[in-house]
Amino acid sequence: QSLAADDIARLTRWADDFPEPGVRFADLTPVFADAKAFRDIIAAMVAVGSEADLVAGIDARGFLIGGGVALALDAGVLAVRKAGKLPPPVRSQSYDLEYGSATLEVPADGIELHGRRVLVIDDVLATGGTLRATAELLTAAGAEVVGIAVVLEIAALGGRDRLAEYPVTSLLQV
Ligand code: PRP
Repeated sequence: QSLAADDIARLTRWADDFPEPGVRFADLTPVFADAKAFRDIIAAMVAVGSEADLVAGIDARGFLIGGGVALALDAGVLAVRKAGKLPPPVRSQSYDLEYGSATLEVPADGIELHGRRVLVIDDVLATGGTLRATAELLTAAGAEVVGIAVVLEIAALGGRDRLAEYPVTSLLQV
């Protein structure tokens, strides 16, 4: 486990039946609000992403970590947005969530993704649908996903198995 693991475990807010009955939601808001936990998370992700030249943070909490990691790596940061937030043209990838479905988007022009070495970041790995869709979106645009890093992995949901093509790092597994 990582240096940050104890803080992540202590500070995560667990919510039963949110946002849907039967789903147990991990809210990492207090983790990121803790200076030491935030610093340790960024440092751990920097260590696994040193070959990246672009950091992709997933809407919405992936933005927080992604920005910090990108700054420390001297890499750019790419916000992978939920549908409808970006003006066209966009590249889109739809996916199934534990609850419902969703679409992720990045700009289709203005950013050269071909040949970029991308570290993909999010707060939680649950079923893996969100990260898989992001990796597919970036790969379809010609980027190479050199790593995936998350703060918290809910191992029982098997998300890691859906990401078998990529190196996946989680700072705490529960
Ligand atoms: C949560 C979490 C991950 C995703 C993980 O986001 O932040 O992005 O679910 O689930 P998965 O591995 O089953 O795909 P959510 O969709 O709740 O959106 P939010 O970050 O905007 O709250």
